[in-house]
Amino acid sequence: MTQSREEPLILDMPFDEAIERFAHVNPRQVKDEPAEYGKATPFIKWAGGKRSVVNDLTARFPKTFNKYWEPFVGGGALFFGIQGLIKDAVLSDANLDLTITYNAVKRDPVALIRKLEAHAKKHNETYYYRVRSQHDLQDPLDVAARFIYLNKTCFNGLYRVNNKGEFNVPIGGYDKPDIAQADNIPLCSTALQKTQIEYREFDTIQPSPGDLVYCDPPYHSTNGASFTKYTKLAFGEQDQERLRDFAVGLHRSGVNVILSNADTPLIRSLYKAPTWHIGMVKVPRQINSNPDGRGPVDELIITNYTTEE
Ligand SMILES: C[S@@+](CC[C@H](N)C(=O)[O-])C[C@H]1O[C@@H](n2cnc3c(N)ncnc32)[C@H](O)[C@@H]1O
Repeated sequence: MTQSREEPLILDMPFDEAIERFAHVNPRQVKDEPAEYGKATPFIKWAGGKRSVVNDLTARFPKTFNKYWEPFVGGGALFFGIQGLIKDAVLSDANLDLTITYNAVKRDPVALIRKLEAHAKKHNETYYYRVRSQHDLQDPLDVAARFIYLNKTCFNGLYRVNNKGEFNVPIGGYDKPDIAQADNIPLCSTALQKTQIEYREFDTIQPSPGDLVYCDPPYHSTNGASFTKYTKLAFGEQDQERLRDFAVGLHRSGVNVILSNADTPLIRSLYKAPTWHIGMVKVPRQINSNPDGRGPVDELIITNYTTEE
């Protein structure tokens, strides 16, 4: 199964250049953060994952809200980080295979783990490229197992498709990737029971007054040679404006909105007082954008409400 939309990676250089530049990175040192015992953690690695700032984000949540919406769910770091807080949620994304995978984790974790164990047993370079070339799988469980297998074994967990929507990231060099996640997937499945998972554009969601919408779009990049320029359906400046317009519409109808984005002049010009309140957070750079060991970067957390007493 292929998808109609590409995931623009948060890289500030063309993909081939990134591969070459980070070839020296030892993927064995790219570790998942430790999980809290008994708590579901994201079942995939995802560019722009929010695990390191879950506390900064929840500190800026409104005191009360009804339904929780995440229209750019990706790896779902925030959702899994706050799973105890959430009673009812709609998670969505414009990546079709990703949303199929979420639904498989939710509905059929046991069969999915069985398929992942089969991939794990056969994993080697030849097998990786054979599975990578299977673009037309029809069974959702096969799509999900392939998606997780490739995510756990590809170069730095990157996600990239060609113009036909076919995943084309080369194999990574992990020693013992945890492909099957026999402990974590059942926990994720339990956490997802209170969610609806949908394949859709961010601006087609329909929250009600009093709901909370968290938007974590592909970040705006000031770098003219942005990687996102190379994708057919990249998330460009017009999409950033479309997102702002959508967020203003939500604000007018009484929905609580919280957004993450890069600290760039464009983003600051889109979200202005008095509607928008801007906070900043320091975020460790992702390994794929940190060639020279520079320190953390500032990101914006934007809300249409205040959390001060
Ligand atoms: C920065 S990532 C989100 C990361 C996520 N918060 C996490 O913790 O892993 C952005 C997500 O937006 C999705 N996306 C890109 N364009 C979109 C669009 N137009 N509508 C909805 N989702 C989109 C991508 O597929 C990707 O999963």
